[in-house]
Amino acid sequence: MAYETIIVEVEDHVAVIKLNRPDALNALNSQLLGELASALKDASANEKVRCIILTGSSKAFAAGADIKEMSEKSFVDVFMSDLFGNEATAILNVRKPVIAAVAGYALGGGCELAMMCDFIIAADNAKFGQPEINLGVVAGIGGTQRLTRAVGKAKSMDMHLTGRFMDAEEAERAGLVSRVVPAKNLMEEAQTAAAKIAEKSMLTSLAVKEAVNRSFETTLSEGLLFERRLFHSMFASEDQSEGMNAFLEKRAAQFRDK
Ligand code: HXC
Repeated sequence: MAYETIIVEVEDHVAVIKLNRPDALNALNSQLLGELASALKDASANEKVRCIILTGSSKAFAAGADIKEMSEKSFVDVFMSDLFGNEATAILNVRKPVIAAVAGYALGGGCELAMMCDFIIAADNAKFGQPEINLGVVAGIGGTQRLTRAVGKAKSMDMHLTGRFMDAEEAERAGLVSRVVPAKNLMEEAQTAAAKIAEKSMLTSLAVKEAVNRSFETTLSEGLLFERRLFHSMFASEDQSEGMNAFLEKRAAQFRDK
């Protein structure tokens, strides 16, 4: 499908979705969010794709929701259309692993979009922020909830109340990103991580994602039971025998998603 605000490339089991509104620092307008939802649905359905990378430009992952577009809306408009609700659901419905490769600004909805991915690899020039307060609004697709879970109340409150930006080093220290790499190596690092993930059994990758995400939704004892049962259920798969036999036979496992 031809897109205008994103570029999609599928190579070697990895779909790279690049946000592409350079004149607006990849601000998230309804067209871009619609195209992103559609590309994610395609990548989910494409059997060749085993991991997805979401990225932007070297200057901006995304500088937030499109302020020009939002400025024209009323309460009735946003409430009745449930603004950003469907798009957020579409992103969260992706069961395959999604890596955010973030360079430059990841602000407001851009930071929230990165946090909806499974983990964030940041370039050393990345800047994260939830500056919605400067516009007289609060975060709308998870900032107050996910940033708080990622970095704790103190930093989350600081970011949301002052609107200040966090650089990549602070973001790694605080646990928002999994690693920081030189900006010039960002895509190479993300591709290497995605290729590693693509080698695994998809059954196991999906299970890992469900189990980790469940930790945000439930009590510790319920989460532990969920994990243990998932672990037990893996013994019904051929990939479990293959993985364990390959280890014992000192060879690389050949997973078949069965
Ligand atoms: C629309 C935007 C934009 C945005 C930047 N642009 N951010 N357009 N919506 N969120 C546009 C600018 O208007 C400008 O267009 C061009 O991109 C370059 O931006 P500059 O400001 O000239 O660049 P710079 O001086 O380098 O400053 C970069 C910046 C600044 C610090 C990132 O652009 C900025 O503060 N942007 C807004 C960040 C923000 O408040 N985000 C939260 C949005 S609310 P022209 O045509 O003038 O060249 C939000 C709510 C989330 O995200 C709710 C759920 C999704």
